[in-house]
Amino acid sequence: MSAPPEVAPGEGSAGSAFLAACRRQPVPHRPIWIMRQAGRYLPEYRALRAKVDFEALTRTPELAAEVTLQPLRRFALDAAILFSDIMTPLQGMGVELAFEPAPVVREPIRSEAQIAALPELVPARDVPFVLESIRLVRAGLPRGVPLIGFAGAPFTLMCYLVCGKPSKEFAAARAFLYAQPQAAERLLGRLADAMAQYLAAQAGAGAQALMLFESWAGLLAPREFTRFALPAVRRTAAALRRLGVPLIYYVNQGSALMPAVADLDVDVIGVDWRSNLSDVRAVLGPGKAVQGNLDPAALFASPAELERHADAVLSEAGSVPGHIFNLGHGIWPDTDPDAVARLVDYVHERR
Ligand code: CP3
Repeated sequence: MSAPPEVAPGEGSAGSAFLAACRRQPVPHRPIWIMRQAGRYLPEYRALRAKVDFEALTRTPELAAEVTLQPLRRFALDAAILFSDIMTPLQGMGVELAFEPAPVVREPIRSEAQIAALPELVPARDVPFVLESIRLVRAGLPRGVPLIGFAGAPFTLMCYLVCGKPSKEFAAARAFLYAQPQAAERLLGRLADAMAQYLAAQAGAGAQALMLFESWAGLLAPREFTRFALPAVRRTAAALRRLGVPLIYYVNQGSALMPAVADLDVDVIGVDWRSNLSDVRAVLGPGKAVQGNLDPAALFASPAELERHADAVLSEAGSVPGHIFNLGHGIWPDTDPDAVARLVDYVHERR
């Protein structure tokens, strides 16, 4: 397979509807990709996963690249997203954790001493396999399909580090914000700097857009979101701006937080399914593109109903440039791949 032409960061969006939409430029068709598009709903992923555990998949560049490309072979998706995990760079910083399948941290971080002891992340030294995976994916992608690199947003990473495992409430992490606010700010600052290093290295290796996942934003009241989560994202985003690569900030359960992110210096806000995109665009104003926001459950509707649900998202997003179609959160493992195929084709036909 011949390598796609190199698209240098910031060089423009030529040939990619996804990159054009990130920059709020007109597009020939509505771009679509799917959060968690590489994963367990695909039989070819499950076949590989039966032989190799998740961590080995993420740490072996040939396998990570293969899994990243699997959904692109089935569907006419407008972007690829690197197969990895938000916790992978923390492992690179010496945090011991297991994927069961959700990440479980062996020694949760609760003290100033643990925060001070967190080493800097040097991506080429600590997670070289991620950078190598990106190079391999770029070489195997269809022409005009860009690769999205990603990281966890600092507050979401902090939730896992402080609680040690996923939970509904992340009580220990939220209590930490109130009990030890200075320590929390220091931890968030460390994570913000580490993720800036990590994402810059991904762009250097060939990632053409960068996404920060704030999966647990909805745990916070606007006041705490603005005090703790947002300054950390600002710090990461500010460090990446000079790269000229589009930045996407996904804010899960963020309906109440849209006013707070309106002046964040990123290109795209990722929106979950609980908001109406028309309302979100009115709050964010003309300076932001939006990404989302079909309920992952809608993929279980009948074919005709799925089209109506996609229509609703398209109509709420409107015709002003700057919409990337996606689900409002990750695709469910028991989703029928044929429903994804129908959704991708329908969104493209509707333009
Ligand atoms: O296709 C893609 O989107 C790229 C791959 C990707 C994974 N994790 C693979 C994965 C991405 C972008 C992530 C990000 C991630 N990881 C987030 C942010 C996105 C979100 O969903 O909000 C979060 C919160 C995590 C933490 C995490 N990792 C959880 C909660 C889990 C278990 C949940 C689940 O889906 O089972 C993981 C493990 C994980 N990460 C799997 C995959 C495919 C399952 C591993 C397996 O095959 O057993």
